[in-house]
Amino acid sequence: MNSNTIVGVIGSGAMGAGIAQVAAMAGHKVVLYDTNAAALEKAKTSLSAVLQKLQEKGKLANAEDVLARFTFAGEVSAFANCGLIIEAIVEKLEIKKSVFAEVEGIVSDDCVLASNTSSLSITSIAAACKNPSRVLGLHFFNPAPLMALVEIIPAVQTDEALVPAAKTLMEQWGKVPVITKDTPGFIVNRVARPFYSEAIRIMEEGIADKATIDWAMTELGGFRMGPFTLMDYIGHDVNYVVTETVFTSFFFDPRYKPSFSQKRLLEAGWLGRKSGRGFYSYAEGTAHPEPTKDNILGNEIKERILALLINEAVDALHLNIASAKDLDLAMTKGVNYPKGLLQWCNEWGADKCLAKLDGLYNDYHEDRYRASILLRRIVAGERQLL
Ligand SMILES: NC(=O)c1ccc[n+]([C@@H]2O[C@H](COP(=O)([O-])OP(=O)(O)OC[C@H]3O[C@@H](n4cnc5c(N)ncnc54)[C@H](O)[C@@H]3O)[C@@H](O)[C@H]2O)c1
Repeated sequence: MNSNTIVGVIGSGAMGAGIAQVAAMAGHKVVLYDTNAAALEKAKTSLSAVLQKLQEKGKLANAEDVLARFTFAGEVSAFANCGLIIEAIVEKLEIKKSVFAEVEGIVSDDCVLASNTSSLSITSIAAACKNPSRVLGLHFFNPAPLMALVEIIPAVQTDEALVPAAKTLMEQWGKVPVITKDTPGFIVNRVARPFYSEAIRIMEEGIADKATIDWAMTELGGFRMGPFTLMDYIGHDVNYVVTETVFTSFFFDPRYKPSFSQKRLLEAGWLGRKSGRGFYSYAEGTAHPEPTKDNILGNEIKERILALLINEAVDALHLNIASAKDLDLAMTKGVNYPKGLLQWCNEWGADKCLAKLDGLYNDYHEDRYRASILLRRIVAGERQLL
């Protein structure tokens, strides 16, 4: 893979169109393919508008030059000369598998096949191919042209040489690549779970209302959005489903247990901003509820959620899901956390974080609050974190 590689993108939805834009802006010829002609047309129109806007803002020399690198295709045969294919279609394993098998029959033997899946096993997608060693995960974040992070996920079968090659290419595309094991949620969607689930738990128990929790995490925690505002923004059809998928994929580990509060929102069709109502109402003229700006309560909330987040990051390090550097990069570049969780652990003090978790565990006797053995080893002085 190099700058002359023709890049094929399967699916011209939110992610596919964004990834295609990134590749074309990096100088590649791009074939964007979708089975839905209307979706393809929409992507063409919006890509043209976005590129024009970038030119007007002086961020792109010539939008027409970039647009000229695109081929919009309704037939998979258009991928014949591609050297890299990135799939971004519906999140259904059986459909992805059949598309990978179909594409493999069209491309050359050395074409690399990547999936942008958020939650499916790359190994199981690779297993659909005759040559699974050419398959890996390239997980971009939404919106792909703006979010720097790309998680690179080798499957069990992936040729080892592909990982550094993909890393170099992503850097050439101006991205920040991190390497992660093929486990549920990869880095970001695994480590971030408590940001949502513990916030909901605190609300369900009546410790604080959602506006107060959002205030605590933004004002005291430094996060760009509070958990309830963020879940409404992402949409409960996406955020709840990721939580449930991670939970079931982790063989029902209680640490990832979804909540009924969020499931009911999904069932009600209260998907968040996009449907006008989620945890909050977005109807015209509706006042946003006021938080209780109590610093003692706010710090309790912040420390409880933060302790669980740090525990996830430390445990991911313990299980070699990614390096310490990549774990911190993933959370700052993929979901804009104010700092990496391992760095945060060092600054706050691993002992304080462990004391918080053990306090919760002693109160609740729930496995949800069990501390990672690595955190204990760090506190005991047996290991360094960074
Ligand atoms: N939306 C996000 O925030 C996000 C972030 C990271 C990763 N992802 C992952 O990216 C993938 C795509 O997500 P999205 O949000 O862009 O979805 P989307 O619904 O916006 O777009 C999917 C597109 O794929 C097309 N498509 C469906 N089946 C096809 C097939 N067999 N062949 C060709 N095209 C087909 C559809 O017509 C549609 O245009 C999913 O795997 C998702 O998990 C999404």
